[in-house]
Amino acid sequence: MGNITLTIDKALGIITKEQVYGKEEKIKECLAALHNGTGAGNDFLGWLRLPSSITEAELTDIEQTADLLRATCEAVVVIGIGGSYLGTKAVLEALHNSFDWLQKERKNPVILYAGHTIGEDYLYELCEVLKGRPFGIINISKSGTTTEPALAFRILKKQLEETVGKEKARQRIVAVTDAKKGALRTLATQEGYKTFVIPDDVGGRFSVLTPVGLLPVAVTGVSIRDLVSGAVDMEKATGEDVPFAGNIAARYAAVRHALYTSGKKIEILANFHPKLHYIGEWWKQLYGESEGKEHKGIFPASVDLTTDLHSMGQWIQEGERSIFETVISVERPDHTVIVPTDSENLDGLNFLAGKRVDEINKMAELGTQLAHVDGGVPNIRITLPEVNAYYIGQLFYFFEKGCGISGYLLGVNPFDQPGVEAYKRNMFALLDKPGFEKETKAIKARL
Ligand code: PA5
Repeated sequence: MGNITLTIDKALGIITKEQVYGKEEKIKECLAALHNGTGAGNDFLGWLRLPSSITEAELTDIEQTADLLRATCEAVVVIGIGGSYLGTKAVLEALHNSFDWLQKERKNPVILYAGHTIGEDYLYELCEVLKGRPFGIINISKSGTTTEPALAFRILKKQLEETVGKEKARQRIVAVTDAKKGALRTLATQEGYKTFVIPDDVGGRFSVLTPVGLLPVAVTGVSIRDLVSGAVDMEKATGEDVPFAGNIAARYAAVRHALYTSGKKIEILANFHPKLHYIGEWWKQLYGESEGKEHKGIFPASVDLTTDLHSMGQWIQEGERSIFETVISVERPDHTVIVPTDSENLDGLNFLAGKRVDEINKMAELGTQLAHVDGGVPNIRITLPEVNAYYIGQLFYFFEKGCGISGYLLGVNPFDQPGVEAYKRNMFALLDKPGFEKETKAIKARL
């Protein structure tokens, strides 16, 4: 298998190749800080060697637990928010048939999501659809104290216990959380749930290759071994010993930093394959939470093309020139659809007859790239030979490594997220949470 590749020549113009390659020494320092654990947030570097350190015993334990859930559940609800569900959703949307939910006979449980929102109607509809169905729960929270998943778990646990009884419910609930800390750990110990540990030194948004992502993905029959194997190969390909010119994570970090310091403050991650939509959502959390601090950081946005060319295309082409685009390009789709000839040709599309739909998509991609570059939007391209578990594994690790380097280049700690607490404090104060009396008084005076 080859590797995913990175092309930056269409990003040059506003910045020069010298500006990108001029960052080589600085990037070496960032890589050394990551690998030697001497940089900010160095207690959260577990993700760095995670792929190559996953053991056979860990993979087998995950697969066996997944088999148990598959054998007993029609649906499995993944409860989690941010890094606790986005990676799973990204893999499953990319690799499963988009119309899977319409198939009558399913081999594997359907994965549903909760705890990523406090929307009452969503939760109501989820509870309704689960009524009378054998379902399981994978409850994921690194901290074990996040309100959204804790709330969803309280509601779904009650429903499951009322439906199948406490003992059967216990067998269908798995908790993925910290080894010792947090309310979820306490609850899991008390109730006797099967548990998996999110290592102390792996933050939520870097946790997709721990049981956080691997367990739910395994439940659906996707090969977690392929996913991990792709990540292992990318771990090698982006190592400290790999020269700058051949290290795609280092070059990605260098080019985006050069663009940022030239005034390009927004990075749009674009794909021409709607099944990659959630890769964009996962990536936005990874880069947004890692870089956006101290009033610095590229704003991560994402679009699905050509779909969003009919909504966001105008802005990208002619709006404020503060953006650059990173396109995830796929060489070979899984399936073939040929455009048929039509004797009437009323739509005028016979010039496309006999062509693969992907050929048209590829020309749309090329045409868009040229148009956007002409419009002053630098273009970075990441090419995946195929969309499969192996290359998604590569992509995850590539982006994680690029993110760690980018954070250090920017001069921030890429592994914390202090700003996420602000809304929580206000919400707790507004809800009269015990211990927040002072904040409650202050915030209510502002209303
Ligand atoms: O990256 C992070 O650590 C966070 O944004 C988390 O992914 C998110 O807040 C969910 O946290 P937890 O898994 O602790 O419930």
